[in-house]
Amino acid sequence: MKPLPICTPSGQSGSSRKAWIVHSLVAGAAIAVAIGAHAVFSGRRFGKFRSTVIGIIPARYASSRFEGKPLVQILGKPMIQRTWERAKLATTLDHIVVATDDEKIAECCQAFGADVIMTSTSCRNGTERCNEALQKIEKKYDVVVNIQGDEPLIEPEIIDGVVKALQRAPDAVFSTAVTSLKPEDGTDPNRVKCVVDNRGYAIYFSRGLIPYNKSGKFNPMFPYLLHLGIQSYDSKFLRIYPELPPTPLQLEEDLEQLKVLENGYKMKVIKVDHDAHGVDTPEDVEKIEALMRERNLS
Ligand SMILES: *[C@@H]1O[C@H](CO)[C@@H](O)[C@H](O)[C@H]1NC(C)=O
Ligand SMILES: *[C@@H]1O[C@H](CO)[C@@H](O)[C@H](O)[C@H]1NC(C)=O
Repeated sequence: MKPLPICTPSGQSGSSRKAWIVHSLVAGAAIAVAIGAHAVFSGRRFGKFRSTVIGIIPARYASSRFEGKPLVQILGKPMIQRTWERAKLATTLDHIVVATDDEKIAECCQAFGADVIMTSTSCRNGTERCNEALQKIEKKYDVVVNIQGDEPLIEPEIIDGVVKALQRAPDAVFSTAVTSLKPEDGTDPNRVKCVVDNRGYAIYFSRGLIPYNKSGKFNPMFPYLLHLGIQSYDSKFLRIYPELPPTPLQLEEDLEQLKVLENGYKMKVIKVDHDAHGVDTPEDVEKIEALMRERNLS
């Protein structure tokens, strides 16, 4: 598989150059992780802190918008296989499993060589599925990465980036990634925005444009952040996460991750250069195939 040439360093100058930004130079090359001194020291002090890592790809068959989505063919390969192959290239994962409630998905994944954990159909979201899968796996892991099956072009560097961020931030229980928000996505409620503090911990996530400029418009000078779906958790935290009762901001925005912040937990955020190409609808398949042809990916 050819590396994606889309990770170019950006925001090197001015206010967007922050210590928590992860510059993945090119996919396949080592990433330079720029982190604050505090994080470096905590990481060293803890030695092998959170050293064992499992990547879980939750995949369900029934989807309101796109039935059988994980099995859709993208340039002749099932989408779930593409995601899994990308995840395989990450260097921080000790183990990768697909967690599914569906026999067809399980068979398909076993056929291309993936380990599969069957989870119940009652899982209400990917996080619950990850949690259930984790309970069913005998070996203990310190960190769980939830790799969305609908991002077949996810860069392995991003997976590694969120894992390393969590390993280096012992005060955080959760880590995730953001990228630059495009102006046209500013008012799209399906594009979740994020603001962080100056050490790269999440302050808030919103479906609205944050921060809000008093002009009422998108400020082209401001480095707005778009939230990407990938998340990693401390496995002890993952056990309690689905059980935490819903919180007011979470319910109002319909964003699960707000529950983490509203309960006072810390979430580490890394910024990456990534052009998100999630597949949510059958139309997205054509778009992503066109893009892959254009970039000579097969
Ligand atoms: C708001 O956006 C404008 C550009 O659209 C920018 O010049 C200004 O500095 C921003 N902030 C405030 C407080 O107006
Ligand atoms: C999963 O969805 C359920 C129902 O919408 C919700 O109560 C629960 O908090 C979600 N899980 C997580 C981890 O947020």
